[in-house]
Amino acid sequence: MNALQIRDLTKRFGSTTALDGVSLEVEEGELYGLLGINGAGKSTLIGILSGLLAPTSGSASVYGRDVVRELSEVRKLVGVSPQETAIAPNLTVEENLRFFAGIYGASADEARARAQETARRFGLDGERKKRAKTLSGGRKRRLSIAVALITQPKVLFLDEPTLGLDVVARRELWKIVKELKGKMTIVLTSHYLEEIEALCDRVAILSHGKTLAVGTTEELKARAGADSFEDAFIELVGEEERE
Ligand SMILES: Nc1ncnc2c1ncn2[C@@H]1O[C@H](COP(=O)(O)OP(=O)(O)OP(=O)(O)O)[C@@H](O)[C@H]1O
Ligand SMILES: [Mg+2]
Repeated sequence: MNALQIRDLTKRFGSTTALDGVSLEVEEGELYGLLGINGAGKSTLIGILSGLLAPTSGSASVYGRDVVRELSEVRKLVGVSPQETAIAPNLTVEENLRFFAGIYGASADEARARAQETARRFGLDGERKKRAKTLSGGRKRRLSIAVALITQPKVLFLDEPTLGLDVVARRELWKIVKELKGKMTIVLTSHYLEEIEALCDRVAILSHGKTLAVGTTEELKARAGADSFEDAFIELVGEEERE
């Protein structure tokens, strides 16, 4: 079974068509990159797959569960670290972890235990008593990923996890993602193409809400006749823009 199955998915916001007939499959355990210029539809697709947005038409399922008809099941299967972070600014690191464990049904004791274990695993132990809003951008991101993982999801969505991070914090995040790789299905968006190349098994390029190309970064380089993945990306997206 594919972890994610997306068929002819369309999403309109008023007169804006954010997704226009997208079909994709993501295999279990894959680290899948979603690429595309600003406004291509990446975050909208993640919103639908994680049960936060309803599609206009078409279908999508997570481990065979339909995102519309089996919404509550889908929500149990996914964890999201959104582009705009979801952590509560006035709660401490530990309170955030406990809160997000609790809303997905863990008892108070379980939530406390999971929060402690997760804080340790993510190197957030020293900051457990700090309010989230006082953390730096990189530490907030780390907490946001920890929060997304606290329910032990089968699919993790990371929407621009390294945006605004310094090179050291970015490499630390790569390390976290590499450690998670293979243990769950991960969908990652990023505008840093070297990051996509370093981390992803396969990528899809979206453009104007449509799937422009799917493959490994090597396949897309060969297809565009480009030496670097950045050149391939520009060539593939540019082709579409010229049409
Ligand atoms: N809630 C909304 N209401 C109206 N339009 C929206 C909404 N969310 C997204 N859009 C529009 O849908 C399109 C796709 O947006 P989306 O955020 O999915 O793009 P993206 O690929 O994630 O872009 P970025 O790289 O800038 O994050 C854009 O035209 C955007 O303006
Ligand atoms: Mg986005």
